[in-house]
Amino acid sequence: MATDNGKIAPTPHAIYPGSFDPPTSGHLDVIQRAAAIFPRVTVAVLVNPAKREPMFTIEERKAMIRECVSALAHVDVIDFRGLLADFVKALDADVIIKGLRVVSDFENEMSTALMNRSLSDVDTMFLMSDQNYSFVSSSLVKEVFFLGGDVSAYVPDIVLRFMQEKRAKLRSK
Ligand code: PNS
Repeated sequence: MATDNGKIAPTPHAIYPGSFDPPTSGHLDVIQRAAAIFPRVTVAVLVNPAKREPMFTIEERKAMIRECVSALAHVDVIDFRGLLADFVKALDADVIIKGLRVVSDFENEMSTALMNRSLSDVDTMFLMSDQNYSFVSSSLVKEVFFLGGDVSAYVPDIVLRFMQEKRAKLRSK
């Protein structure tokens, strides 16, 4: 894209990786914040064969996120396996996005960000999710949901519907 003074402005491509099992309102908040900054955002859902018994398949997770971001034309949703550093290099991405809820998140994320930069030369940018979601995680949402708690404030409506359908299927087995 050319600027007024004839220089070429970069169009940075941001990757937001995660397990998203399931995507929460905190995840969606980070996606929306990233989409407000970057002209191209790819939400990358990790295919992790080591993770036993996920609640949702990769296809279901991608479908939920796609529905949540359907109004954002510059947000894409794909899956990846293996090293994130290899994936961002293969996509020629410019930046990795990670969400931060509390300070301890940063303590965990800092070494990962430095490792990813060392392997790929791609920096990680941290976006703070809305403080209303500072205690929301996929694992807590699942635990509360399966114990009968109301999680409607913590996941998008479409995700809640997927969760209810999944629970009904599991109970009918
Ligand atoms: O939503 P999550 O589970 O917190 O996301 C973690 C994720 C997918 C971002 C992280 O596990 C990851 O990047 N996995 C890919 C494997 C990898 O690159 N590992 C080395 C990290 S330095």
